[in-house]
Amino acid sequence: MFSSIAPRYDLLNHVLSFNVDRLWWRRTARSFAGILSEPTARVLDLCCGTGDMTFALLRQTGQAGAEILGADFSHAMLQRAREKSKGKPLGWIEADALQLPFPDAHFDLVTSAFGFRNLADYDAGLGEIFRVLRRGGECGILDFGEPHGPFGMLYRIYFQHMLPVIGTWISGVRGPYSYLPASVERFPAPSAMLERMRGAGFCEASWTPYTFGIAGLYRGKR
Ligand SMILES: C[S@@+](CC[C@H](N)C(=O)[O-])C[C@H]1O[C@@H](n2cnc3c(N)ncnc32)[C@H](O)[C@@H]1O
Repeated sequence: MFSSIAPRYDLLNHVLSFNVDRLWWRRTARSFAGILSEPTARVLDLCCGTGDMTFALLRQTGQAGAEILGADFSHAMLQRAREKSKGKPLGWIEADALQLPFPDAHFDLVTSAFGFRNLADYDAGLGEIFRVLRRGGECGILDFGEPHGPFGMLYRIYFQHMLPVIGTWISGVRGPYSYLPASVERFPAPSAMLERMRGAGFCEASWTPYTFGIAGLYRGKR
């Protein structure tokens, strides 16, 4: 499904989010400024897609020289990430988030932007992130939420009815942009997601809403 929308994925992201996606990636990267300023830091951006979260992490490192890897199981998405990153000190790897090809305790930071929600098994995903993080390492999961109140009502009209039509029209592919609101609906609410994170072993689990809760950042420490 993701490979089928790869050619238009970036354009659609920016159009459908009115460009707010860029702010969300930047804000997430800024939240981990401490780790990213360490020259020896090892960072994994999981479900990296075409790499925009990965690029935001790189920008946040400045000249620090942290090692940053993007991983995704869609070849087509990664191909676009590679094309966009020519000359940048980033690595890309084709891998399933539920079976990561990395040793235990390897990374200082694992992020995932709008990818975690798509995993077939959230607990297994959290378990893998926990496994590859070193003790004291951090995880940041940026994903969609469901805003409440009058704004939430307006937003739902847009997200459930208008976005699938625009997304299908621009991508030329039927399916993925109807799947998007359905996948957000099945994603646990913040309190349940934080419980799952604690269950996987994370401490200091927290959720920070972005833009009235349309999106939000889950953080946890190993
Ligand atoms: C909505 S895109 C997000 C891409 C990027 N992180 C962003 O913020 O634009 C979700 C990505 O998750 C990837 N993905 C979904 N399930 C995965 C899995 N089990 N293992 C690796 N990647 C996965 C998809 O291939 C897709 O590129």
